Amino acid sequence: MILYINSCVRRDSRTNRIAKALLDKMGAYTELFLPTEDIHPLTAETLTKRDALLAAGQLDDPMLRYARQFAQADKIVVAAPFWDGSFPSLLKAYIENIYAVGIVTVYGADGVPQGLCKADELIYVTTAGGQFIPDFSYAYIKALAESCFGIKQTRLIKAEMLDIIGTDAEKIVAQAIKEAETIALQEVRYE
Ligand SMILES: Cc1cc2nc3c(=O)[nH]c(=O)nc-3n(C[C@H](O)[C@H](O)[C@H](O)COP(=O)(O)O)c2cc1C
Repeated sequence: MILYINSCVRRDSRTNRIAKALLDKMGAYTELFLPTEDIHPLTAETLTKRDALLAAGQLDDPMLRYARQFAQADKIVVAAPFWDGSFPSLLKAYIENIYAVGIVTVYGADGVPQGLCKADELIYVTTAGGQFIPDFSYAYIKALAESCFGIKQTRLIKAEMLDIIGTDAEKIVAQAIKEAETIALQEVRYE
């Protein structure tokens, strides 16, 4: 199963357009459109409940469904516009929700996380108004995916400088779509 995690808030999102072009070539996928999902930052109550579920090994509880889905995906595509040097907070809230120890990762005695996720790849699709800086966006997701979740490789598809006066944004997006379609065809298809 290919899991599409869509954190693109704008209705005419260019990031979503590029990601959809990629996905259309990859095959069938399940989309999680985060703005309409039941995703919220963890609170004292939800964290206490989750800790109790994990401690009791009740991993089939509905509260942990996003974590289970993430761990079981064969391939993951994340679409996230470049916001404030990072990505929309909804995506961070999603990460809080799926980062359940015992489902997506476990910690060894040395404190080092060992990933439990099945996906062989995570592809991060982004667009930026100016220059894209990966430090607190793609680099963070890549570190989580590879070091904590056990996902073998991560790749980046980006279109930048889209909001700079004088640049042909549609041309840059079209180039990114072309790149995305090429990348999709290089991949194993999961249907
Ligand atoms: C809340 C918000 C924050 C943004 N922050 C940045 C930023 O830090 N750097 C940048 O280059 N562009 C920034 N932008 C511009 C977006 O990255 C750019 O318009 C992007 O293409 C939006 O993606 P979308 O078309 O998928 O919505 C921001 C836009 C919004 C709405």
